Amino acid sequence: MKIPVGLRIFALILASTAFYGYVGQMVPQNEVQPPEAVVIRADLTTEEMVEVGRGIAEGKGLCRTCHTVGQTGALRFPDFAGVAARAQTRVPGLSDIEYFAQSMYEPDSFIVPGFNPGMPAINRPPIGLTDQEILTVMAYLQSLGGTPTVTLQTSHAYYKAPPAPGGAPPAGEPPADNAAPAEALPLAAPPAEKAAPSAPSALPGVTPAPAGAVTP
Ligand code: HEC
Repeated sequence: MKIPVGLRIFALILASTAFYGYVGQMVPQNEVQPPEAVVIRADLTTEEMVEVGRGIAEGKGLCRTCHTVGQTGALRFPDFAGVAARAQTRVPGLSDIEYFAQSMYEPDSFIVPGFNPGMPAINRPPIGLTDQEILTVMAYLQSLGGTPTVTLQTSHAYYKAPPAPGGAPPAGEPPADNAAPAEALPLAAPPAEKAAPSAPSALPGVTPAPAGAVTP
């Protein structure tokens, strides 16, 4: 019996759809939780930072959508197990803290051998962690095969921590000139008629914006 061409094409479409659907089901799915608000108290201990950082790495930091912990074999992304020890020697001249900072703020400036670039900058959208959140993630990374030393007063090349609350800045602290650059200001100010009312600012020390500028 001759099967009509139309039916054969239909059967082929059905079979390939079913096949790809089946393969798709076999790919492990990572559940991505919506970002939850993480409150980072300034007095967190390093141990508490590890726990907060672990939560961020598994949650809104999205690290674990790419990175595994304790998996071997052909991996697309570097595994996190023991990363604390490797971080101390990955890049000559960078401590583990500076290496982790570079990995998160400027992922493409060093590519782990055997892997491809593709990690997003963690301090920028869409992930957009704050400097403090990144410090807690660093504490978590340090806990994977090492001893966490990061505190919320730790400075590094991408972040200058404010002095400890109520305390003098640690001796030998470099001046704040390498602080993170200020957010880019809007280049073109919209026309003045919608500008903020020219009432003097209630904040002491804030000069009223010149005509035509818009208070951000
Ligand atoms: C989209 C996937 C992706 C996400 C999300 C991601 N990474 Fe990565 N990460 C990579 C890739 C790819 C590399 C290897 C290439 C490189 O060195 O940039 C890498 C490398 C690293 C390294 C260097 C590892 C080593 O062995 O030296 C660290 C540390 C790291 N990531 C931390 C993080 C942290 C922390 C987060 C979450 C805040 C994160 N990554 C989120 C893809 C990702």
